[in-house]
Amino acid sequence: MANFRLINLPVFSDPRGSLTFAEANKHLPFAVKRAYWIYEVPEGQMRGDHAHKECHEILIAVNGSFEVEINIRGDIEVFSLNKPHIGLYIPPGIWTKEGNFSQNAVCLVLASHPYNENDYIRSYQEYLSFYNDPIS
Ligand code: TYD
Repeated sequence: MANFRLINLPVFSDPRGSLTFAEANKHLPFAVKRAYWIYEVPEGQMRGDHAHKECHEILIAVNGSFEVEINIRGDIEVFSLNKPHIGLYIPPGIWTKEGNFSQNAVCLVLASHPYNENDYIRSYQEYLSFYNDPIS
């Protein structure tokens, strides 16, 4: 399984401000087929709480900050994202939750596949048995 990791994206800063970009297969480990963004998250609310079977994602705090909990079959690591030029790459097979959103937070997600509800595992018990099954 590919490993999750932080990805540093290019930054061009000058007196007019800053610009960051990401090109598929150059800065990102997959071709982007879909983008979505999460914002106006009320204090205390969590997002995600699911795993993907095939879809790869990159999460970027394009504004504000939030935390991402990465859980690989019970092995947990937490990342704090708060920079528009740093992405967190999440390959499939990882149970992921986002929380602690700042008031102004915008979480941009770049995804490798179009939206498909069948790609989601939304039950944690199902996730654990799916990845413990030697044929899957
Ligand atoms: P949901 O999966 O609950 O968001 P989260 O990332 O917090 O788990 O998605 C909310 C709704 O939006 C759900 O009904 C599915 C829909 N949706 C799409 O139609 N297309 C998309 O690309 C995404 C990410 C969600």
